[in-house]
Amino acid sequence: MKNAGGAAAWLAPRIRGETMTVAEAIKTGIVFEKKVHATYVAAAKRAEDPIAQKVFATLAEEEQGHINYLESRLSEWRTDGRLGGEKLRTVLPAAERVREGVKRLRAQVAQRKGSHAAELESLRQALAAEEETSAFYLQMVRDLPPEGQELFARFLEIEDGHAAVVQAEIDSVNQMGFWFDLKEFDLELA
Ligand SMILES: [Fe+2]
Ligand SMILES: [Fe+2]
Repeated sequence: MKNAGGAAAWLAPRIRGETMTVAEAIKTGIVFEKKVHATYVAAAKRAEDPIAQKVFATLAEEEQGHINYLESRLSEWRTDGRLGGEKLRTVLPAAERVREGVKRLRAQVAQRKGSHAAELESLRQALAAEEETSAFYLQMVRDLPPEGQELFARFLEIEDGHAAVVQAEIDSVNQMGFWFDLKEFDLELA
């Protein structure tokens, strides 16, 4: 997939003063999700730390779920002209919970080992891809008719949680020298 055009292409109709249709928005959302999915797949492959591998693999799986979800919403929209389907679910904690977890962890631990330079680079790339995706979803919440707004508002909420997890890992690796397991949040993760 060519990622480069995807991110900028969605701006074109806006520059012309047009807003996207629901179908265009979903298709563009799929492009963003594929990009962020590819970022996590590559990061999981590159990671040496087993917890890092697990965190990236969990996020990759989550983004694959987003691609599937958007694809099925798109075909539904085309055939029935409506957006139904189950509410999108996430295995990851809400942003607020992530931030609280890191604060708690930081109070307990003070250790630093290694530089984790490659892992930090993966995390920064992931954060940039998440932020770019969320910026698009935020714009769609503003621009689209109510059905589309609802769909993308839910995505925004979930992607906010992803960005918080990635940011929390950056802080943890940087300041404490290790990856925190997603289990730190008492989640029912396999
Ligand atoms: Fe996503
Ligand atoms: Fe995400």
